[in-house]
Amino acid sequence: MHVASYDLLSTAVLFLGSDGRIEHANTAAEELFSMSRRQLAGLCAQRLFDTDSALADRLPDAIAGKFGILRQDLMIERWGRQEAISLAIVPLHQQPWAALAEVRVIEHHILLDRHQQLSNELTAQRESLRNLAHEVKNPLGGLRGAAQLLDAELGNDALREYTQVIIEEADRLAGLVDRLISPQGSSLQKSWFNIHEACERVHTLLSVEFPAITFTRDYDASVPELLGDFSRLFQALLNIARNAAQILTESPQEETPHLILRTRVGRQLLLSGHQAKMGLIVSVVDNGPGVPPALQDKIFHPLVTGRASGTGLGLSLAQEFVQQHGGIVAFDTQPGHTEFRMILPLEHV
Ligand SMILES: Nc1ncnc2c1ncn2[C@@H]1O[C@H](COP(=O)(O)OP(=O)(O)OP(=O)(O)O)[C@@H](O)[C@H]1O
Ligand SMILES: [Mg+2]
Repeated sequence: MHVASYDLLSTAVLFLGSDGRIEHANTAAEELFSMSRRQLAGLCAQRLFDTDSALADRLPDAIAGKFGILRQDLMIERWGRQEAISLAIVPLHQQPWAALAEVRVIEHHILLDRHQQLSNELTAQRESLRNLAHEVKNPLGGLRGAAQLLDAELGNDALREYTQVIIEEADRLAGLVDRLISPQGSSLQKSWFNIHEACERVHTLLSVEFPAITFTRDYDASVPELLGDFSRLFQALLNIARNAAQILTESPQEETPHLILRTRVGRQLLLSGHQAKMGLIVSVVDNGPGVPPALQDKIFHPLVTGRASGTGLGLSLAQEFVQQHGGIVAFDTQPGHTEFRMILPLEHV
């Protein structure tokens, strides 16, 4: 297709050189970015999408065709506002340009629908798991009690080994059942606190548990106090950060394992079902191998795990606790750089 034909499209298209610079832009792109072709030409495509640092870092590889077609949703600034867009980088072969970038603004209602659907799915899954857990709980208690009675009656130590196995396994299962049931219904114990208290506590715990990891705390001192349930938000952050620490120590890697706890105040944030004028972003960044591609879509679902000893409840609970505060947990991942963000609205400020 000749460049001029792209001007007829309603989708914004940027033509990129192998160095990532914009060489041409169609009319829709001029409108979308409110910049003329001349202003866009020569600009590094990374600059247009720099709100998402993980994407900006991946852009050169995407242009070189390492990911096939790279698709990603992100927020960009437009007329001083944040807007959700869907970006596709299409590498080209034997063409005057190295790649095409196709940019579409995502209609607000589509975005909300998507979030809503995910949130509904998770709620339904948790619900059925909890019902199952309740069903398991009573017979489990009976089993354990009977094993205990039997244990007391047995004179033979060799046989008591078996009753001990029953009791221990019943306890392990009861622990899992309790974790599945726990957050249901009970209302939030709200108080005012500074999120850095939670960060510091997570840091203290993990630096003892994982001495091989280098921790960096990068706090924004201007972060205002938050009204919320401290223990749930602390638990959410701990679950997220412990995952990163576990991955860093369990998988062999060349670089020194490094974990960053970062806080920032963000504006115009996209949350589940709504937008917040102002919010708190707590990021946990690790330089581990990244979330396996096969898990990426379902990582927040209960009982989904990539670890041999994992139960797959950590992130599902973290997401639930953060959503109870009107927020959301999101992540970006690639080998060497994974970032989980806990985004909490600060509507009352
Ligand atoms: N920072 C990370 N880097 C790479 N993979 C991750 C990261 N965080 C989570 N994951 C993947 O997501 C999976 C699900 O995490 P989740 O915390 O829900 O469960 P778990 O850690 O396996 O078990 P549990 O937390 O219940 O002990 C993990 O098993 C791991 O495969
Ligand atoms: Mg976990």
